[in-house]
Amino acid sequence: MVGHDTEVVPALSFTEQRWKQISYVHAKSPAESAADGVARVAAVLGVLLAWCCSMQETELRFKFGKNWSAFLSVLTEDRITIAEESLKKALKMGSLRGKRFVDVGCGSGLFSLAAVRLGATVHSFDYDTDSVATTSELKRRYFPDATHWTIERGSALDVAYLSGLGRFDIVYSWGVLHHTGNMWQALDNVTALVKQPHGKLFIAIYNDLGTRTRRWAAIKQFYVSSNPTMQRLLLTMLFAHNQARAVVSRAMRLENPLPFRWWREYKASRGMSVWHDFVDWVGGYPYETAKPDAIFEFYRTRGMALEFLTTGGIGCNEYVFSCAAPAQLEIAT
Ligand SMILES: C[S@@+](CC[C@H](N)C(=O)[O-])C[C@H]1O[C@@H](n2cnc3c(N)ncnc32)[C@H](O)[C@@H]1O
Repeated sequence: MVGHDTEVVPALSFTEQRWKQISYVHAKSPAESAADGVARVAAVLGVLLAWCCSMQETELRFKFGKNWSAFLSVLTEDRITIAEESLKKALKMGSLRGKRFVDVGCGSGLFSLAAVRLGATVHSFDYDTDSVATTSELKRRYFPDATHWTIERGSALDVAYLSGLGRFDIVYSWGVLHHTGNMWQALDNVTALVKQPHGKLFIAIYNDLGTRTRRWAAIKQFYVSSNPTMQRLLLTMLFAHNQARAVVSRAMRLENPLPFRWWREYKASRGMSVWHDFVDWVGGYPYETAKPDAIFEFYRTRGMALEFLTTGGIGCNEYVFSCAAPAQLEIAT
C-alpha cells in the first residue's frame, strides 16, 4: 500500500539519470552556473564512458583478419619484394628452394607469398577465418594453381592439429604466439614443428617493458571491449598522439619533423603499412610479452640455439633459433 503523500517515481536507467543531469538548467548565480557546467561535462563523460564500456558479447579478441583483409588494398610489388628480403636476411638464406616452410598465424599471407616466391613449399594457417580468406585471396591472385602452397584454419594451441603437419625446415611465426591467449604453451608447441637437425624457428614476440607494457595491455583490452565507433575514435586519437610526439622528437633532434621519411623506412623493414600495423598494435588482444632473456632461456632448455636477434622498444623482438649450433650470433637494435 502506498500512502497518499508518497510520490512513486519510476526507476531511471543509468543513462536516463545522466541525461537528466545534463538537461538540468536552473542555475541562479555565476557560481551555480559554473558548477552546473562542470556537472554537465562530467555527466557527458559518464554517458560516454558507460556507452564505450558496453561490452560486446563476443570473446575478447581482436579481429586480426579484418585488418589484414584491408591491408590487401595497399599491397604492391615492392612490399612483396621487401618481405622476401626480410626473410632472406633473418634466415641468412638466399633462396628457400627445396625447403618446407610453415607460416603459423599467417595474417595477411604476405610472408607465405614471399616464401613461395623464394621457392619454398608452404603451409599457411591462422586461427582467424578472415586471415585464412585473405591469404587464400593472395594465393588466388599470385599462384592460383600452385599445389605447393596450402592454406587452412588451425591454431598454434591445437596440439592434435600441429602433430598432423609433420616437420618443417622453417617455422615462421611473426607476431602471433603472444596473441594466442597462452603464449608459453604456444612457444612450446611450435618447437614440435621444427625439423631436426638444422631446422629454423623464426618468431617475433612483444617486448616486456614493465609499466609501459601494462599500460598498453589496459588500452588494448579497453579497445577490444569497445563498440566500433569508440574504437575508431580511440585509434584516431592514439595515432594523432603518436605522430605528434614523433614530430616533436624529430624537431628536437633537429631532423626534418615531417613523417614521410619515417613512413618510407617503416615500409622498407618488412613491407608492412604504418596504419595497418598501428591498428594491429592498438587492437592486438590477447596480448602477452616477454623479455629477450626469458625467450632465450626457454628455447635453450629445449636444445635450440639463437642465431639472429633484433630488439629494442615496445614492439616485437625478432628471434631466429636453430636446432644446430649457431655459426655466429648477430644482434641488431
Ligand atoms: C599480428 S598478426 C601477424 C600476422 C603475420 N604473421 C605477419 O607477420 O604479418 C597475428 C596473427 O596471429 C593469428 N593468431 C592468433 N591466435 C592464433 C592461434 N592460436 N593460432 C594461429 N594463429 C593465431 C591472428 O589471427 C593474426 O592473423
